[in-house]
Amino acid sequence: MQSSKEYVEQHKNRFLNELIELLKIPSVSADSAFSQDVINTAEVVEKALVNAGCDLVELCETDGYPIVYGEKIIDPSLPTVLVYGHYDVQPPDPVELWDSPPFEPVIKETEEHPEGAIFARGASDDKGQMYMHVKALEFMVKTDQLPCNVKFMIEGEEEVGSVNIATYVANNKEKLKNDVILISDTGMISKEFPSITTGLRGLSYVEVEVTGPYRDLHSGLYGGAVANPINILTKMIASLHDGDNHITIPGFYDKVEELSSEERAEMAKAPFDINAYQNALEIESVYGEKGYTTNERNSIRPTLDVNGIWGGYTGEGAKTVIPSKAYAKISMRLVPHQDWKEITELFVKHFNEIAPKGAKVKVTPHHGGQGYVTPIDTIAYQAASKAYETTFGKTPIPQRSGGSIPIVSLFEEELGSKTILMGFGLDSNAIHSPNEHYGLWYYYKGIETIPYFFKYFTEMMASK
Ligand code: BES
Ligand code: MN
Ligand code: MN
Repeated sequence: MQSSKEYVEQHKNRFLNELIELLKIPSVSADSAFSQDVINTAEVVEKALVNAGCDLVELCETDGYPIVYGEKIIDPSLPTVLVYGHYDVQPPDPVELWDSPPFEPVIKETEEHPEGAIFARGASDDKGQMYMHVKALEFMVKTDQLPCNVKFMIEGEEEVGSVNIATYVANNKEKLKNDVILISDTGMISKEFPSITTGLRGLSYVEVEVTGPYRDLHSGLYGGAVANPINILTKMIASLHDGDNHITIPGFYDKVEELSSEERAEMAKAPFDINAYQNALEIESVYGEKGYTTNERNSIRPTLDVNGIWGGYTGEGAKTVIPSKAYAKISMRLVPHQDWKEITELFVKHFNEIAPKGAKVKVTPHHGGQGYVTPIDTIAYQAASKAYETTFGKTPIPQRSGGSIPIVSLFEEELGSKTILMGFGLDSNAIHSPNEHYGLWYYYKGIETIPYFFKYFTEMMASK
C-alpha cells in the first residue's frame, strides 16, 4: 500500500500549485472591499473538497461569510473526525513592507527553509495549513486508506472573531457531531522539536474613545487649559500596567489559573533559546511581567496590549492642534478560567473610573472568546503524538500557545468535543505580518502526518 510520504512525493508539485492558486485570492474578511474574493475562496475550497473525495459538500450561508461543509461518511459505527480551518486571511497591510506582493505567491529559499517557503498572506495562517487536510483526505480516499468518517468545517470569519459561527454550530449540532476535532492553525517549536499545542489563550478586544472639547482647537490658544484627549488617553493606557508589568484593572487576576511549580518546571524543559528569540526580533532584551519567563509570559499569563492608537494630526508636516478625540484598540489575552465577558466588563468599569474630569470616555467591546486547554491523557492526544513519532521520529512536546482560536472552546460547549491542535507553523512564519510564509517542508510534512492521526485514532478508539 502506498504511504502518505510516497503519495506526497509523487504529487507535491500539484499540491503546491493548488495552494498557490488559493493564496492568489485576497480573502480578507476584515475589509468589505474584498467580500467577493472571500466568497470566491469559499467556492474554491468547496471544489477542492469535492475533488479530494468528500461525498457531500455544501456552502452554508450565515449572516456573514459562508461555511464550507464537507463530509465522507464511510460507516456510521466508526469514529468521526471533524476538521476545522479557515479560508479567510488577515489584511496584508502595511503592504509596502512586503518584499513581494501579498497575493502573488512566490517560493523563496531562506536560511530557515532551504527547501523553500511560500510567501503570501495566508500561507501559514491558515490556507496552507487548512489545505494540508484537504490533501491528506485526497491521499486517504484515493489510496483507499480512509479509516473512519471525516467532516470538514472551513469558515471565512476566523480573523474577525467567528461571530456568526456560534449560531451555525448551535443550529447544526447533529450535523457536526464528532468524536474529536482536528485543527492545524497553530505552530510547533521546530522540525527538530515537534510539538502539539495544548492550550490557547482567550481574548477580549475593545476599542476606546476619549473626547475632550467638542471640536479641534488651536493648541496655542487653548493648550494647557483644556484636557487634550491624546495626552489623557496615553496616560490612562500607561496606568493599566504597574512597575512590575502587572495589569492594574481590579479583579483582572482573580480567576487566573496559577500553575504549580511542577507544571512550570515541566514547561521550562521545552527547548528555548532566548538569544535566538531576541535576535530574530532585533530586540536587545525581552520585556514583560515580573516573576515569569518569556514562555510563561506568552502562554500561561494574561496580557493587555494596545494594537493601534490614533487621533489628531498625523499628516505631513506639522499642524498645531488639540484634537477633539483620541482612540485606541486594545486586546487582552486571557488564560483558562478567566471569563472574557467578565473581563470586558471589568475593563469598561475601570476605564470609565480612571477618566479624569474634562474628558469623556466611551468603550466599545468588539469580540472575544474563552481560552482552552487540551488534556493530554486522551486517545486523541496519544494518536496525534504517535502520528508525529511516525513521521518526525520524535515524540512531540506538549506546549501551550499564546494565540487564540475562540471557536475551540465554543466547540466544547456546544458539541462536547475536545480539540487536537496539530499545528505545523513556526513563530517565524510572520503570520499577521508582512512577508508571511510557510515552509514547503512543513506543508508536505503536515500532509504526510495527518493520515497517521486518522489511522491511530481509529485503531485506538476501536480497542478502548
Ligand atoms: N491561527 C491564529 C491563532 C494562532 C496562531 C494560535 C498561532 C496559536 C498559534 C488565528 O488565525 C488568529 O489569528 N486568531 C486571532 C483571534 C481572533 C479572534 C481574531 C488571534 O489570536 O489574534
Ligand atoms: Mn488562523
Ligand atoms: Mn490569524
